[in-house]
Amino acid sequence: MDSELKIVATADGSNTIYNPRVGENYHSRNGALQESRHVFLNSGLLYFLDAPSKSPPVGETFPGAAISILEVGFGTGLNFLLTADFCTENKLWLNYTGIEAYPLTAEMIAQTGYDQYVSPEIWQVFIEKYPDSLKSQVVINPLCQLQIAGCKLENFRSDQQYDIIYFDAFAVAHQPEMWDERAISHTVQFLKPGGVFVTYAITGNLKRALKALGCGVEKAKGAAGKREMLRAVKSV
Ligand SMILES: C[S@@+](CC[C@H](N)C(=O)[O-])C[C@H]1O[C@@H](n2cnc3c(N)ncnc32)[C@H](O)[C@@H]1O
Repeated sequence: MDSELKIVATADGSNTIYNPRVGENYHSRNGALQESRHVFLNSGLLYFLDAPSKSPPVGETFPGAAISILEVGFGTGLNFLLTADFCTENKLWLNYTGIEAYPLTAEMIAQTGYDQYVSPEIWQVFIEKYPDSLKSQVVINPLCQLQIAGCKLENFRSDQQYDIIYFDAFAVAHQPEMWDERAISHTVQFLKPGGVFVTYAITGNLKRALKALGCGVEKAKGAAGKREMLRAVKSV
């Protein structure tokens, strides 16, 4: 499948991948990097860390602070890379699981140019260990572990629940089955009470599905090119 995929530039100068079969990009054409930073890092991870019970002050050592993240649609790993870089820089322990039905090759990921947005150490170890992370958990550095489940969301099983879910599926127009009640309910079972679910889009159906699952739902400011995005917090 990789041979059909194309690297394309987005408005902020960062690259994304275009999948002609789906007719969709992996990120917003208004800026892959800005979208990833705004939706997942700032509106997801930083929001979670700002909650009073969790707040290790950013920039300070906080031994023992551990964050677990589940990403639906791991793709190029951009969300993981930015998150791992932030956590390592801020001495936060990170346990990251991606779900990806159609894993890219390491060669394809290496062409994205995402090395320029994270530390050379994180990039190098990620690219080297990415193939193994599809088989078992790998250590990126002493603070960061990664595992990618190479399966469809519906087939993902785990005993673990996560602090944060990054929901980064292709848009509902292209993959409606990823956004229906069943898929959202399957996803939210892996979220801890008090955990945060974020995604770049917001629709009435998504809001209703999350509310029915006992989540508090809010509209947040969207990334460039989108007025709004959705954030939900699972009730305790
Ligand atoms: C919008 S892209 C994700 C972009 C990714 N987060 C990144 O930063 O590169 C959607 C991803 O979902 C994956 N995908 C499609 N169908 C899926 C399914 N049923 N289960 C899990 N992943 C799926 C695609 O292969 C693609 O990598």
